[in-house]
Amino acid sequence: MISVGIVGGTGYTGVELLRLLLRHPNVQVSVLTSRTEDGRRVDDMFPSLRGHTDLKYSDLNIEELKKCDVVFFATPHGVAMQHAQDLLAANTKVIDLAADFRLQDLEQFEKWYGMQHACPEILKQSAYGLSELNRDKIKNAQVIGNPGCYPTTVQLGLAPLFKQAETLVKPESIIIDAKSGVSGAGRKASLGMIYSENADNFKAYGVSGHRHHPEIVEALENISGQKGVFDHIVFVPHLVPMIRGMLSTIYIDLTDAGAAADVQSLYEQFYANEAFVDVMPANSSPETRSVRGSNQLRIALYKPQPNKLIVLSAQDNLVKGAAGQAVQNMNLMFGFAEDAGLQGIGLLP
Ligand SMILES: NC(=O)c1ccc[n+]([C@@H]2O[C@H](COP(=O)([O-])OP(=O)(O)OC[C@H]3O[C@@H](n4cnc5c(N)ncnc54)[C@H](OP(=O)(O)O)[C@@H]3O)[C@@H](O)[C@H]2O)c1
Repeated sequence: MISVGIVGGTGYTGVELLRLLLRHPNVQVSVLTSRTEDGRRVDDMFPSLRGHTDLKYSDLNIEELKKCDVVFFATPHGVAMQHAQDLLAANTKVIDLAADFRLQDLEQFEKWYGMQHACPEILKQSAYGLSELNRDKIKNAQVIGNPGCYPTTVQLGLAPLFKQAETLVKPESIIIDAKSGVSGAGRKASLGMIYSENADNFKAYGVSGHRHHPEIVEALENISGQKGVFDHIVFVPHLVPMIRGMLSTIYIDLTDAGAAADVQSLYEQFYANEAFVDVMPANSSPETRSVRGSNQLRIALYKPQPNKLIVLSAQDNLVKGAAGQAVQNMNLMFGFAEDAGLQGIGLLP
C-alpha cells in the first residue's frame, strides 16, 4: 500500500481522483486538502462517497503531504510548482493535473499562464503524462505533468499517423474542432457557467487563442520529431450543455502516401495492446456517453475522400482527460498494474 495525498479535494478532478483511488487495491488516501472546507467530512459534501470513506478535508500542510508517497495536485495552475521542491526533497512524487509541468517551453508557459515558472529545473526532469505515448519516461519520473483534456484527445487521435516511416499527413492542414462538457471548467462559481447560460446553448470559446494550442503543438512536435510544422494548426474548443464528456473532430489532409495507406488497420495495430484506447470499426461514431465515468478513449476514422481523413476522439474529460489518466500515470510510476483502479465501465445511458 502506498500513501496518497490529494491537494484540491473539493474540485471536480480532486473528487474524481478520490472516487477512483478508493477502489484502488494498492492505495490508501491519507490526506485530502481544501482551504475552504477544513475539518468537513468529504461524504458530507459528496454523498456519493458515503460508506466508502471517513476522510475529512484538511488545510494544505506541507509536512503532512511530505509523509505521502505521492501527491496529486488537482488545483489551479501555479500551485504544484510552489510545493514540488519540498515534496521531492522528502522523496514524495508529484502528479500535477494543472499545467505547471506540461510545457517544456518556458516562454510559452509564461505567455499563456501569465506567471513565471517557480522551478524550471524540476520542470526539465519532469515527464509529460500521456501514458500510452510516454510510458518509459513516466515509469522513471518523480514529477508528472498530466496532459490537458483536449490535448489528450488530439494526441491519441493523431499519434499513429506520425509514427510511420512515410509522411502520411500534411501537418499544416490539421483542424481540430473540439467540444467539452461544462465540468471541464471546474467547480468554482462563475457567471458563464450557470445553468441558464449553458443549458439549451452551444458556443465556441477561445477561438483567437487557447492555452491548449501550444501544448498540442509541443506534443505533436515530440511525437513526430518535426519542429515548426504544427504552429498553424487550427484548434477551436466549444462548450456543450452536458456535464461530462469531450469529443474532438479532427480534419486532416493526407499526402499521396496517406491516401494509399490503410489507416484503419494502422490505428488498430498501433493501439492493439492499449487497455484504454478503443479503435472502433470503420464508420462508427464514438459517443461521449459510452465513456462516461470510464478511463476509455474511443476513436473512429472516416475517409470521405482519398486525401481527407476525419478522426473522431471521445473521452470523459474528468477521467481519461484528468483523474483517470493521473491514476494511470501513478500506476506506471509505482509498478502497479496499469489498469489498477481503472477497470470501471462507461455509464450508459
Ligand atoms: N475539469 C476538467 O475536466 C479538467 C481536465 C483536465 C485538467 N484539469 C485541470 O485540473 C485542475 C483542477 O481542475 P478542477 O476542474 O478540478 O478545478 P476546480 O473544480 O475548480 O477545483 C480546484 C480545487 O483546487 C483547490 N484550490 C484552489 N486554489 C488553491 C490554492 N491556491 N492552493 C490549494 N488548493 C487550491 C480548490 O479547493 P479550495 O478552494 O477549497 O482550497 C478546489 O478543490 C486545473 O488545473 C484544471 O485545469 C481539469
